[in-house]
Amino acid sequence: MKVSKTELHQLIKNKINKAGLSEEHASIVSDVLTFADARGIHSHGAMRVEYYSERIAKGGITNNPKFSFDQTGPSCGVFEGDNGSGFVAAKLAMDHAIEMAKENGVAVVGARNISHSGALAYYVEMAAAQDMVALSVCQSDPMVVPFGGSEPYFGTNPIAFAAPSNDDRMITFDMATTVQAWGKILHARSKKEAIPDSWAVDEEGNPTTDSTKVNALLPISGPKGYGLMMMVDILSGILLGVPFGKHVSSMYHDLSKGRELGQLHIVINPEFFIGLETFKKNISAMLDEIKAIAPSPGFKEVNYPGERGRMREKNYEAEGIEIVDDIYNYLVSDDIHYDRYDHKNKFAE
Ligand code: NAI
Repeated sequence: MKVSKTELHQLIKNKINKAGLSEEHASIVSDVLTFADARGIHSHGAMRVEYYSERIAKGGITNNPKFSFDQTGPSCGVFEGDNGSGFVAAKLAMDHAIEMAKENGVAVVGARNISHSGALAYYVEMAAAQDMVALSVCQSDPMVVPFGGSEPYFGTNPIAFAAPSNDDRMITFDMATTVQAWGKILHARSKKEAIPDSWAVDEEGNPTTDSTKVNALLPISGPKGYGLMMMVDILSGILLGVPFGKHVSSMYHDLSKGRELGQLHIVINPEFFIGLETFKKNISAMLDEIKAIAPSPGFKEVNYPGERGRMREKNYEAEGIEIVDDIYNYLVSDDIHYDRYDHKNKFAE
């Protein structure tokens, strides 16, 4: 079914607030989840509200976290999340990074002991909207084999990047470092469909096309994706002193405990390099040149990262955001959660 962005925002905010977060924090959670659905990133939108609500209600996301920010140097700092909502902590950490980069040209801010923070595009776009370039990386639960390995070690560890242009376009590149998200395996399972052998491996570490035999996901482009997910874990995990690699907590196990995740934002102010106007002019020139490239057979046009999400958002603004009926019914119900996730299986649903 289709709902307006305003209605979706209100429904998510109400549910998260009812689960136990303050109205202010619930509103920020809803900002990021509604953003994801509006861009077509449904895997990180309203679909997750029941999970977050269950975790909040069971104490695994602190209701009234004691947030603090320690500016450890002129251009760097650490935001302590007290296992409060990852959405709120990541946003506040990015606010600090933007302010420092305005002043000093660059900022590196880590958020530690946080919960899941959703689609990273949201945070890097905060910086690009203020004429900054930003990169954000975070850890997620171990479900990916290192290249050549048969046991999961890293998470789907995403990388996001955004840059402003001198027109209304913005580059937003935001991806998991795995070939496919876990949700796609579950989708294939539910439809009893085979999967390409490039997505995942079985218990022995062999590539599998049987979605029911999947034991772990594969990194993008073999050793290259493996190197990238390692880099992400070093920057957002080891650097910030939180659990790393296979010690990162599982999203769906023990919802009463904080996840102790890490996320790192790097913000660069172009004014301190080539100068803001030249930077933005050249980003626009780059996009013009890319858009002028003739599409190859099978393609209508060449897109730049983030373009298709924004086109989707425009359509949704006119027609409403597509939400699965069951999710909508849950959002309008009085229930906070149905005990669907805790300890259910390795990676749950
Ligand atoms: P994806 O595969 O849908 O897109 C990856 C990138 O490719 C995007 O920047 C997109 O704009 C770009 N793209 C897609 N089609 C394109 C085309 N035709 N031309 C040019 N560019 C194109 O993203 P993925 O890997 O499925 O990740 C989805 C979301 O999941 C992200 O928002 C990510 O941050 C989030 N995520 C969050 C995690 C967490 O723990 N917080 C863990 C893993 C992923």
